Amino acid sequence: MADNIKKVTARTFQKMKENKEKITMLTAYDFSTAKYIDEAGVDSILIGDSLGMTILGYDTTINVTVEDMLIFTKAVSKGVNRALVIADLPFLSYHVSKEQTIINAGKLIQAGANAVKLEGASDFILDEVKHLTQCGINVAGHLGFTPQYINTIGGYFVQGKSYENTLKLLEAAKKLEENGAFCLILEMVPAETAKYISENLSIPTIGIGAGKDCDGQVLVIDDIIGKYPKPVPKFVKQYANVKEIIKTAVSEYNNEVKQNIFPNKENTFYLTDEEREKLERNIIK
Ligand code: KIV
Repeated sequence: MADNIKKVTARTFQKMKENKEKITMLTAYDFSTAKYIDEAGVDSILIGDSLGMTILGYDTTINVTVEDMLIFTKAVSKGVNRALVIADLPFLSYHVSKEQTIINAGKLIQAGANAVKLEGASDFILDEVKHLTQCGINVAGHLGFTPQYINTIGGYFVQGKSYENTLKLLEAAKKLEENGAFCLILEMVPAETAKYISENLSIPTIGIGAGKDCDGQVLVIDDIIGKYPKPVPKFVKQYANVKEIIKTAVSEYNNEVKQNIFPNKENTFYLTDEEREKLERNIIK
């Protein structure tokens, strides 16, 4: 790690909540993007299984494997000095047995993650959270809309929309906290629900489509830079239009090659005068 950079840890997250300092998080899937995010001072980088859509072109996160996650976790962690790196445990990689969960989480940690994230709060999941924590692995929870449950939820619906469901979400959140989760991602819940949960938990909440009153915010990098080619959810704010930048650059390159404009002198290697003369005199056959 570079000198005088103070690494963000799970403890830092806790202190930030106590000091009412907002926590920032973005997803990243590759070395260079992770480096830029880290250098910009974002507190945490999530190698989200959203890479199933943004990088691998699937419609959901369901197809993502531990092997996929390992490749991108290795790449991202090489670009990061300061931010806390969290890697998603993908679909069914923490549901079969405690042994398999530990092996999969261990692989992600050894690939460079400082923590893993998993979705839900069933009794089985809570047990896994406890076990991982006891093994020295930081665990982030994820409640509200949980993309790995898309087939049972039945669509991209806002969660926790009633008083009863808000209480259920809080109960689940508290259980995650009791079992050792160090933070909680809250996805697609009404602002009031997220505020209530955030105020009643000791660990920080990181919202995505959950209003201003979470302890931090997370978004998908491809969404905020305008790179993803499909429509994005209402909660996304687009800060740049990388899609258009890529399209313009690629089409200029294509035209210049077709018209023999590229490569020009600056992009070309040349022989020395002496070697060129030899070549022109046909000494080299
Ligand atoms: O996979 C992901 O990118 C996530 C965020 C949306 C929180 O889980």
